[in-house]
Amino acid sequence: MTSLQPGDTIGILGGGQLGRMMALAAARYGLHVHIYDPEGAPPAAEVSAQQTRASYTDETALKAFARACDVITYEFENIPRESLDILQNLATLRPDIASLETSQDRLIEKRFLEDLGLAVAPYAPVDRSDDIAAAHEALGRETILKTRRLGYDGKGQASLKGDEDCFAAWRSIGEKSAVLETRVPFIAEISAIIVRAGNGTAASYDIPVNTHKSGILDTSAVGCFTDFKVPADLARQAQTAAIRIADALGHVGVLTAEFFVTETHALLVNEIAPRVHNSGHWTMDACLCDQFDNHVRAIAGWPLGSTDRHSDALMTNLIGEDENRYDQFLSASDVQVHLYGKTEARKGRKMGHITQIAPR
Ligand SMILES: Nc1ncnc2c1ncn2[C@@H]1O[C@H](COP(=O)(O)OP(=O)(O)O)[C@@H](O)[C@H]1O
Ligand SMILES: [Mg+2]
Repeated sequence: MTSLQPGDTIGILGGGQLGRMMALAAARYGLHVHIYDPEGAPPAAEVSAQQTRASYTDETALKAFARACDVITYEFENIPRESLDILQNLATLRPDIASLETSQDRLIEKRFLEDLGLAVAPYAPVDRSDDIAAAHEALGRETILKTRRLGYDGKGQASLKGDEDCFAAWRSIGEKSAVLETRVPFIAEISAIIVRAGNGTAASYDIPVNTHKSGILDTSAVGCFTDFKVPADLARQAQTAAIRIADALGHVGVLTAEFFVTETHALLVNEIAPRVHNSGHWTMDACLCDQFDNHVRAIAGWPLGSTDRHSDALMTNLIGEDENRYDQFLSASDVQVHLYGKTEARKGRKMGHITQIAPR
């Protein structure tokens, strides 16, 4: 695998906050960043050398972008397959198409996980509204309908309880191909954030315990900041599963697996993200090399950095108007503040995050 040198250019598909934090990490190593995003001046472009502003299906723009970059990575998974093919022909894509294709579609993802022998919540594919009632019954009458593609932050999902109207749920997700899954009565949600290098070596971060509000991540906690102490064997199991997933995909870069922990301490994989993840933001303030840093190292073909955690940490997302309290957070001596430079604080929009730390 070829390695980058300081002064080389990383292309990032997507200009949101994940791209922004990747770009900041790349800058530390003297790498240039070129953002590809259809929006003008997205959060990542503000801290990057260049931006191509074009649609993800603009063949001419994609080709020029590929020629301008030494390696291309991405900060979200919903890039059209045809566009990835164009890029892959002209440039090095890390992680490559296999990682994206598997995680773009919840049904393909679940089958892939089952093929690896990993447990997922009971589910059934749904292609029309008529499929739902019987599946809902079979899955225990407390279920969640999720679109196969393009869902994030709880979007594209509908909860079904008891005899609820299946057609209403179907309509609310836009009548798209979906999966129906059992609502898992979990005792905790955790995630494994791992990084895998091109030579197959991998490293894991400690396992955060995650809480959600309205389907959006609210907090991720490690160490003293969480009441649920992840047993060591469960943590190892989650990390091993995430590395197996990355190995099977030939993944290069950071990969995240989200899990439900059941009452009997069984692990069910909820979903995977072939990228840096919101539940890994605490690593920025609690580890020598954070997830963005290690992602850059991996895609650059460089040695991975330490994933060791020097502090306990509690990451809290700033959603919508939460950002307005930034000066209050700045006054706390044990809190670091990260704002994404988004201009419009829409409801449910991730505007920044804060991390409270305590020495371990
Ligand atoms: N089968 C399920 N059982 C219980 N809770 C669920 C289930 N699926 C999703 N959730 C809740 O909704 C959150 C978001 O769902 P997820 O499938 O991770 O979609 P997204 O792509 O929006 O992150 C999960 O983190 C969890 O809190
Ligand atoms: Mg999720």
